[in-house]
Amino acid sequence: MSITYLETTKNVYKEAAENPQVGLCCTTTPIWQLPGLDIPVIMQRMNYGCGSTVHPRDLVNNPKILYVGVGGGMELLQFAYFSRQTNGVIGVDVVDEMLEACNRNFLEAEQANPWFKKDFVQLKKGDALNLPVEDASIDVAAQNCLFNIFKQEELKQALKEMYRVLKPRGRLVMSDPTCEQEMSKELREDERLRALCLSGSLPLWDYIKMITDAGFGTVEIRAKRPYRILDPKNYPTKELLFIESVEVCAIKDPMPEDGPCVFTGKAAIYYGNEECFDDNKGHVLLPNQPLAVCDKTAAALSKLNHPELFISDSTYFYDGGGCC
Ligand SMILES: C[S@@+](CC[C@H](N)C(=O)[O-])C[C@H]1O[C@@H](n2cnc3c(N)ncnc32)[C@H](O)[C@@H]1O
Repeated sequence: MSITYLETTKNVYKEAAENPQVGLCCTTTPIWQLPGLDIPVIMQRMNYGCGSTVHPRDLVNNPKILYVGVGGGMELLQFAYFSRQTNGVIGVDVVDEMLEACNRNFLEAEQANPWFKKDFVQLKKGDALNLPVEDASIDVAAQNCLFNIFKQEELKQALKEMYRVLKPRGRLVMSDPTCEQEMSKELREDERLRALCLSGSLPLWDYIKMITDAGFGTVEIRAKRPYRILDPKNYPTKELLFIESVEVCAIKDPMPEDGPCVFTGKAAIYYGNEECFDDNKGHVLLPNQPLAVCDKTAAALSKLNHPELFISDSTYFYDGGGCC
């Protein structure tokens, strides 16, 4: 059965491959400046993502990398910058014209970057809903600004596929728009706006729940930034809608018995005069040294009502370390 919004999405990206559209998506991160990395202008013009999914600390020990929804290939080039091995990165896309454009852009990238070889990236035709990739074969999987387009059933399937191809402890790094306000049915059902990453976004916690329901035991919210405004003059909405863009890393850790660990940038600080505070559950706090905690641990520590324990709010900029 063909689902019409998925067909509309393919057509939108066939068009965007043939006629690059600057500003089709609204990237919220600056173009990377790294020693020896020269990103061809055509890749920058075809940057159809929101945040970034390339984080050097995910890329130690020669990981096998999968990137779904290739666009102009900019993030594939960035992953290859760290990986630098033949077929070290697999890029999957369902739109032939996008794969062709990406391949052409790699030829330019080869001219501009002496270290880069086109065969560092293996481009494959395939669907996010049925990945042409073996079970448990990938260390780091990524997608930028594709999954927000999917409706619930397809999103569930796309996450299931990512979970399937990841090795145990493998990481799924994603960037997508999110929106806390309710959108009108007209906006939700507009296939073109959905394909353009404007009307499919979920509230952050609904998005996280989809990820943890897929089985990921740990989730890190690494960044959250303003993305777009949809205003009543230009879109079918009665109120002004504020859309943000998030960067998330979901780790294929076993699911803890008491539920997933979700890090949103909270920290616990003990400010008493004892040598340390120990909750006897593995969290030892030294005086005035913040310990990054997942939301579950933050809630458990708050419940203690300890007079010398401070739990900070979520910053939504979690940067590693801490409990669990
Ligand atoms: C919003 S663009 C993002 C491109 C790229 N990730 C970036 O950040 O520039 C969505 C990409 O997903 C591809 N795509 C659309 N539907 C897909 C599907 N069902 N499976 C795999 N790729 C798909 C499009 O061709 C396009 O390359």
